[in-house]
Amino acid sequence: MSALFTPFSLKDVTLRNRIAVPPMCQYSATDGHTNDWHTTHYESIARGGAGLVIVEATGVSPEGRITPGCLGLWSDAHVPGLARIAAGIKAGGAVAGIQIGHAGRKASAQRPWEGDDHIPAGDPRGWDTISPSAVAFGANLPQVPQAMTIADIERVKADFVAAARRALEAGFEWLELHFAHGYLGQSFFSVHANQRTDEYGGDLAGRSRFLLETLAAVRAVWPERFPLTARFGVIEFDGRDEETLAESIELTRQFRAGGLDLLNVSVGFSTPDANIPWASGFLAPIAERVKREAGIPVASSWNIDSPAVANRVVADGQMDLVMIGRAHLGNPHYPYAAAKALGLDKPSWTLPAPYAHWLERYRAAE
Ligand SMILES: Cc1cc2nc3c(=O)[nH]c(=O)nc-3n(C[C@H](O)[C@H](O)[C@H](O)COP(=O)(O)O)c2cc1C
Repeated sequence: MSALFTPFSLKDVTLRNRIAVPPMCQYSATDGHTNDWHTTHYESIARGGAGLVIVEATGVSPEGRITPGCLGLWSDAHVPGLARIAAGIKAGGAVAGIQIGHAGRKASAQRPWEGDDHIPAGDPRGWDTISPSAVAFGANLPQVPQAMTIADIERVKADFVAAARRALEAGFEWLELHFAHGYLGQSFFSVHANQRTDEYGGDLAGRSRFLLETLAAVRAVWPERFPLTARFGVIEFDGRDEETLAESIELTRQFRAGGLDLLNVSVGFSTPDANIPWASGFLAPIAERVKREAGIPVASSWNIDSPAVANRVVADGQMDLVMIGRAHLGNPHYPYAAAKALGLDKPSWTLPAPYAHWLERYRAAE
């Protein structure tokens, strides 16, 4: 059996293979609520055979959404729709995960296909953004956020806790805190965004405080039997990479001590002035370093652009899980395609029986 198709256990949860579908916003919600699109999308991706399907970035508060089309978990009314999705993912044989987050200074944006930029001032679809400091991201996201007060910080932490409780109630068994991609958690860590002079800024301890306190608060309500994970940008590709990585690894050690079960290693995306080397599997050596030096299981993604690369990064021990994003949008049966590409015997076992029977029987016709 290839490494990619070996099961993976974390806490009381076992994935049928090492293929995970990372969170991918569908920008199709209204007031944070799911609809038929989300239900169908997530269930069919799960039926495709991945071990884990993580529902897209879901706002812990209305102002924490990236766009007006993003999902939310700020009210009990959001639970039934997400419960249908969790049930659909499980019916498809995958573990149901969800990413909860706050978009910080990158919130109030238009959907990517509507421009991907901040909603213009005065447009009723938009809202005021918050961030550790009143510093705009820049480029396509020029809105200057309000610097968060201590009361704001306490409120957002409480929002994460309430969203985690609701995610549990909805039936999710894998929780990912979105601390990456230039959103609020990443902004507290990043020197590009955090210019605070109080205990939530300054040195590594100060810039880590919001993330560690949020983790601790969520850990207190998220059951020990289910994995609690985070997505975090460990590097910016902004010219100060070794320093950022060293700090990120130190923070990851503290995440682990604080009860984090796995890190989804990503890029910070805290500055438009990054120079990201988009090669095939370019984060694999970085993920491996985080895994080794912080002593925590890791997942990662970004341009793991062939089944051979996906299999290799698992076989080489660089990642425990591979996150396969866009390839799943192109083909929800990516695991089947991967099993075939890797030359596995009878690859159709990756499919539900109503498909597998026919594809095995009439393989010559494929
Ligand atoms: C449509 C789309 C939506 C995304 N939404 C999210 C998101 O909600 N949360 C997140 O952490 N990353 C998000 N990402 C990044 C993906 O999780 C993933 O890291 C990225 O697509 C790179 O993996 P890939 O090369 O396999 O596609 C999104 C990517 C795409 C293409």
